[in-house]
Amino acid sequence: MNYRHAFHAGNFADVFKHVLLRELVRAMQRKPKPFLLLDTHAGRGRYDLARADGGGRAPEWPEGIGRLWGANDLPPALADYVAAVRAFNRAAGAEDDTLRFYPGSPLLALPLLRPEDRCAFCELQPEEAEALERECAFARKCRVHRSDGYGAPRAMLPPLEKRALVLIDPPFEAADEMKRVAVAVEEGLRRSPAAVFAVWYPISGRASTAPLFLPVRERRLAPTLVAELRVQGEAAEVGLGGCGLAILNPPWQFAAEARPVLQALVRLLALDDGAACRLDWLVAESS
Ligand SMILES: C[S@@+](CC[C@H](N)C(=O)[O-])C[C@H]1O[C@@H](n2cnc3c(N)ncnc32)[C@H](O)[C@@H]1O
Repeated sequence: MNYRHAFHAGNFADVFKHVLLRELVRAMQRKPKPFLLLDTHAGRGRYDLARADGGGRAPEWPEGIGRLWGANDLPPALADYVAAVRAFNRAAGAEDDTLRFYPGSPLLALPLLRPEDRCAFCELQPEEAEALERECAFARKCRVHRSDGYGAPRAMLPPLEKRALVLIDPPFEAADEMKRVAVAVEEGLRRSPAAVFAVWYPISGRASTAPLFLPVRERRLAPTLVAELRVQGEAAEVGLGGCGLAILNPPWQFAAEARPVLQALVRLLALDDGAACRLDWLVAESS
């Protein structure tokens, strides 16, 4: 396991994932009943952008959060996300308003949780898990598990709260990771049929979506919305040109809320004319 998220922290894919994650948390909170937030591949929680070692490659955050940092007139969801990163950066010790510390998914979601909500973060790399434990040491109703995130839906669902939002954000290093995602999602849905699952995936040869999308569509496992963002056209693609989030059991009205957010992200994060977004139902809500 060689993956180091530090190099990618704050890139366009993180912006896309983290903005939608915060919107999902808020959508869950439209109902007063508490829920469990389960982040199966949580990372270390805090990334020092000044130390992101890209092995000689340019850092990725300037074309991600860097594009939003000084932008005016952002739509509310993006302004809210930038304000959260700004607050984190300051609290983490940045000397002025210069961006240096970027929060990962656990620390972007945690401040939104209500006292009655609960969170569980899984991270397999000991160093990353230890760092996340330090970040979460004083958080209430929050536990870091040094365990395999793919086993977490089976182990932790259904939650006491009976409602759950599960983020699955693997590194996609191994060839079979999407297959493992599909098994974890199916096990989770069997135990908690109404749980919301958000699965991040790269749009690249690295991970075909077929092992997840085929069973979801063919066996209509749950209403499923697919949101995708491409920052460059396929012909120009060097490295990661796009990514997506498959959302099973999306909260009510989430599609309508996500559309303008995706359109704004295309405008802000485009690297060339091929930039585009997509929001489609893989399995329609009414079926
Ligand atoms: C893409 S990063 C996560 C980023 C994080 N979700 C965020 O948005 O800030 C993937 C993380 O999964 C961890 N990891 C890899 N395999 C894992 C597994 N089987 N279970 C739990 N964590 C794993 C890696 O160490 C890495 O920190």
